[in-house]
Amino acid sequence: MKPHAPAPPVVETDPVRIRELVVAARRAGRRVGFVPTMGALHAGHASLVERAAAECDDVVVSIFVNPKQFGPREDLDRYPRTLAADVALVGGKGARWVFAPEASTAYPAGHATSVVVAAPAADFEGAVRPGHFSGVATVVCWLFQVVPADVAYFGAKDWQQTVVVRRMVADLAIPIDVEVCPTIREPDGLAMSSRNAYLSPDERRRAVALHEGLQAAAARWREGAEIAVVEEAIRAALMARDIAVDYARVVDPDTLLAPGPGTAAVALVAGRLGATRLLDNILLPPRV
Ligand code: PAJ
Repeated sequence: MKPHAPAPPVVETDPVRIRELVVAARRAGRRVGFVPTMGALHAGHASLVERAAAECDDVVVSIFVNPKQFGPREDLDRYPRTLAADVALVGGKGARWVFAPEASTAYPAGHATSVVVAAPAADFEGAVRPGHFSGVATVVCWLFQVVPADVAYFGAKDWQQTVVVRRMVADLAIPIDVEVCPTIREPDGLAMSSRNAYLSPDERRRAVALHEGLQAAAARWREGAEIAVVEEAIRAALMARDIAVDYARVVDPDTLLAPGPGTAAVALVAGRLGATRLLDNILLPPRV
């Protein structure tokens, strides 16, 4: 199948139209990949588009700063919006369509339906940001109806989000595969994030502590240390660079509950530098 002539992506704002394009492509036997984003795209997002383009005939990228996943005191208004640069970037990586709806399209007057994923959304980001994952699940569920692709690509960087989305897809029998792609990092190890732009030069230097803490945690894990010791290694790294710890926990990668003996785990960390919250995580392989 593949190549249609490479061209700048077509930007669609109308959900009916993008749905028609995706359905027509699939009827023609093309495999369609979907990368949902909030824009302000960087190399982390680009890696998802590249992966989608490598595995699919056509790629749709959505760019929508979803108001429902921001709390009342969060950064919705100052979240960076860079549509023209974003379209150019994903075009260079092989996206065919960009879906960029207005908020009033996603949430028309009278909108009344929310998707609530209970257990995996309760702790961690869900505890610090009440309503956040309901906002994510609601918009991702809507996006999956409007962009009925074969496969959707998410970053491991937001590990809990991947668990919440996979749970929703399973529970609501949404016919889409979910692929989780590796976290892309700056040269010093800081996970790329649109929110890194908020950091002052001093905060940016200290932000590497999340990565350092996770590396230390992985070393303790390999040595066979108790979970409390592994978690303390992360906390110590953040505190050494004066970063407030929201949480630093080692949990089961699929349920986010306590890991069983001998199973793989994921270390989740969130810290605050001034007004900016940063997240990161690392997968910890099974140990005997
Ligand atoms: P956003 O933060 O824009 O992220 C879009 C996708 O890019 C997510 O799957 C995220 O995990 C991934 N991503 C971000 N930084 C990454 C990095 N450094 N390496 C690899 N992947 C990375 O996540 C959202 O938007 C929203 O919640 C969304 C799912 C679009 C729903 O509104």
